[in-house]
Amino acid sequence: WELHAPIIARINDLKAQKNAVILAHNYMTPDIFFAVGDFRGDSLQLAREAAATDADIIVQAGVHFMAETSKILAPEKTVLIPSLEAGCSLASSITGADVRLLKERYPGTPVVTYVNTTADVKAETDICCTSSNAVQVVEHICAEFGTDQVILIPDQYLAKNVAAMTDKKVITWAGACEVHERFTAEDIREIRAGKPGVIVLAHPECPPDVLAEADFAGSTAAMSGYVSKNKPKDVVLITECSMSDNVAAENPDVAFVRPCNLCPHMKRISLEGILRSLESGEHEVTVDPVIAQRARAAVERMIDLPL
Ligand code: 13P
Ligand code: SF4
Repeated sequence: WELHAPIIARINDLKAQKNAVILAHNYMTPDIFFAVGDFRGDSLQLAREAAATDADIIVQAGVHFMAETSKILAPEKTVLIPSLEAGCSLASSITGADVRLLKERYPGTPVVTYVNTTADVKAETDICCTSSNAVQVVEHICAEFGTDQVILIPDQYLAKNVAAMTDKKVITWAGACEVHERFTAEDIREIRAGKPGVIVLAHPECPPDVLAEADFAGSTAAMSGYVSKNKPKDVVLITECSMSDNVAAENPDVAFVRPCNLCPHMKRISLEGILRSLESGEHEVTVDPVIAQRARAAVERMIDLPL
């Protein structure tokens, strides 16, 4: 922390001077999350903040699809991402052209896209969802279309997990999160054997057999909320490593079992990169206005749902 103090002070000065805010995803390292993040949360919470803020500049401490979502919701604002290499295996698994082919194959079927997608994919779809509202979004859009079949893309595991919680037929895509697909049901059984009584919380991007072994499944914000509310004696978060560091800092009375996987994309965001963004305006995220307008309809439809 002492090493980081001058850079943190410089970032916070520049934010005030330039009327900038930093939106920090739950997977940011604690130095970023606590010392410079103005808003912290999961994808849905950060999208809501992007839409609501009156700052002139948004620095996205997260991955590229999150910065695009901010730009889609706040087109008049400057949106910066500290590293253009902060991608996502889900976002890169599908294109707008792929979605057009799916729509031709399943005419009349509503298309729900996970926010972990590029703007051109969102532009082709009826409504977005995040891991915190996927089941409700699927049920809402099926009722609106008067159908019991839905296309939910691109995460095959999220889709299977949602399908298990609704009576709707869910058509999906072969995408996966490179971080969460590596967890196995055997990992959970080993954790339980090593720490009897441990409470296991897992992200819905994990394969269904992993979720079947967990005590609770939810978005990053939902997992954090579970720990703060229930204060388990021992807990393991089956997700990205920085989550445990951040939730542990806010819950010193809870013991965290630490097997986790790193997201190489999220870890490209550093304090140094954030400072460079604020100093030099790199890297500005832009979205073609026509694409942005269509994508905005899908994101706002989700945000406006009374969930
Ligand atoms: P959340 O919406 O739960 O924050 O998830 C985003 C993400 O990228 C998880 O891997
Ligand atoms: Fe994408 Fe997975 Fe990284 Fe989240 S954790 S940004 S879904 S690769």
